[in-house]
Amino acid sequence: MISPATIEEIKNRMDIVEVVGDFVTLKRSGSSYKALSPFSNEKTPSFYVVPSKGIFKDFSSGKGGDAITFIMEVDGLSYVEALRYLAQRYGVEIIEEEQTDQQQEAQNKRESLFILLNFAKEHFKELLWNHDEGKAIGLSYFKERGFTEETIKDFELGYTIDSWDDLMKTAEAKGYNKDLLEEAGLVISKEGGKTYDRFRNRVIFPIHNISGKVVAFGARTLSKDKKQPKYLNSPETELYNKSRILYGLFQAKQDVRKEDNIFLVEGYTDVISMHQTGIKNVVSSSGTALTEDQIKLIRRFTENVTVIFDGDAAGIKASIRGIDMLLEGGLNVRAVALPDGEDPDSYSRQLGATAFNHFIETESQDIIRFKTKLFLEDAKDDPVKKAGLIKDIVRTITKIEDPVKRTVYLKECSDLLGIQESVLIAEQNKILIQLNKERGSGGPAPDQPPIMPEDVLSMQPEQVETVDILKLIELQEQESIRVLVNYGTHSILNQESIDQDLISYFITEVEEIQFTNPVYREIIELFKSKLNEGFIIDGDYLLSHGSEPVKQVVVDMMTPRHEVSENWENKFQIHIPKETDKLRDITYSNILRLKFRIVQHLVEEETKKLKGIGMDDDIDIILDEINELKKIEMSIAKMLGNVITK
Ligand code: CTP
Ligand code: MN
Repeated sequence: MISPATIEEIKNRMDIVEVVGDFVTLKRSGSSYKALSPFSNEKTPSFYVVPSKGIFKDFSSGKGGDAITFIMEVDGLSYVEALRYLAQRYGVEIIEEEQTDQQQEAQNKRESLFILLNFAKEHFKELLWNHDEGKAIGLSYFKERGFTEETIKDFELGYTIDSWDDLMKTAEAKGYNKDLLEEAGLVISKEGGKTYDRFRNRVIFPIHNISGKVVAFGARTLSKDKKQPKYLNSPETELYNKSRILYGLFQAKQDVRKEDNIFLVEGYTDVISMHQTGIKNVVSSSGTALTEDQIKLIRRFTENVTVIFDGDAAGIKASIRGIDMLLEGGLNVRAVALPDGEDPDSYSRQLGATAFNHFIETESQDIIRFKTKLFLEDAKDDPVKKAGLIKDIVRTITKIEDPVKRTVYLKECSDLLGIQESVLIAEQNKILIQLNKERGSGGPAPDQPPIMPEDVLSMQPEQVETVDILKLIELQEQESIRVLVNYGTHSILNQESIDQDLISYFITEVEEIQFTNPVYREIIELFKSKLNEGFIIDGDYLLSHGSEPVKQVVVDMMTPRHEVSENWENKFQIHIPKETDKLRDITYSNILRLKFRIVQHLVEEETKKLKGIGMDDDIDIILDEINELKKIEMSIAKMLGNVITK
């Protein structure tokens, strides 16, 4: 816990121009500064820093916020990590608050482990570069594999000599104790007190966390002895949770951001070879299936993943199941299979950067198409297999959160599989209904995509009842506010066909609605009070004047996350109406849907009252109330029908 006083001090001292200036070259432009966005690969600058307000705004990615947000975004750090960075940048002493002795001890322990692992890494490097055995065996092995000295240094590769206690002895001489060595996973102790180095006679791949500190090691044997495992890895320790680490991310993160894409490969050597070839936005999950935490980690940098499969068909089929996770995590996934017998390591070295890049660009496909084609070969003459495949593919498609994308994929698969689209849609609906039922009984399932309003509207009434209405209300509120924040200054034709700005239209329409989410209420109040003063404000105003929670919400809503890329329209020859084409309908139906949900909720509440009713209570009053509400519900549903069928 960093104390509020420290945070205050950091905020007072930090200067947005200096902080951003460490990462991009800013050019003055009037009262603000301009630069090429560090978050995308643009040619004309659309990244602004406004020193008077202490904020930045990147129009190419939609990101914006203060200096802390910038550091979080650009370096993929958490809030606390960003504060620590800024504290160091400005020499602010961090005062930790309310740390118990235990917490203090845990913190000291972590610090010591970091220091020890760093020491071990340096020692292993020293052995690789300067020890006779290291040079003759380790260094020459890396060079034979084609790694340049620069690459070996970038990845801090090392070597452990053929000795039971080389590290132990060296570390102890420096004052590190055996317990710490064991806790760091560097030393193993057997019953009876015998201890020895975990890594011996192997080349060493240090595993870095996102800020570049070593948290673990992977170690490859060079011996032909089949009894030796090819790789030995550090065990899980206080610092190393392998489900939260992606190998190579530290070296890749800037490029991931620039390319707005990350390549996922299998092994350490694949990462290193591709990096050396010049393709630096590449990471590996070290041979295991991706975890939810790793997906979250990726999302801090990009939403686009390209999985590169080794050229071995059986292997691809086995590991493709894990891909649904990526889709559920909201990522856009493409995939490519290398030619038989090749892995990214061998193939990138064989082709070189340009040809390898070209191969990936021309051969990679979106994952749905990739998966469909992969299994269609086996299934096309076997109706039972084919039915199974259809189910499987549709199941994968339903993992995609965005309903527009789902529609496009269903259309594409109907072509590929030679199946009517309506059949696929029916299958999809079955799965969605099932999902909603499951959710209705046990509360929201944490790793399912949230139900989108669009889905719910296309459901039958009995399905809606299984969904938590309060959740729907909040989703609908969110959607309304999103439109307000993004398009508030646009003008629309209101019901009387008079030109009006969206804000005032919105404000009149929501007059009698109390939003459940306090941050949304705050946003509406801001719009309203400014409007009363005669100002029409927009999202950017909120970014600079709103409270922290308001900024958070607004930054999020201004990021065009679910916008459909224009390429889709060209590629699939379908027209996807843009939001700006139909702003009034969107605003109107959003508010109407919200009212609809609120009324439904009221009905629910009244109905609950009926259940617990006593003899003296007036049943008639409640029943009247419910009937009234039902009437309103019906009439809104009708209006909604009009809007939606338009
Ligand atoms: N792996 C592991 N333990 C093993 C085998 C593999 O942890 N016993 C992990 C490593 O992270 C490895 C990845 O799985 O990098 C892929 O394995 P493999 O393809 O066998 O290794 P490569 O990295 O390709 O190594 P090399 O090119 O030297 O064969
Ligand atoms: Mn491999």
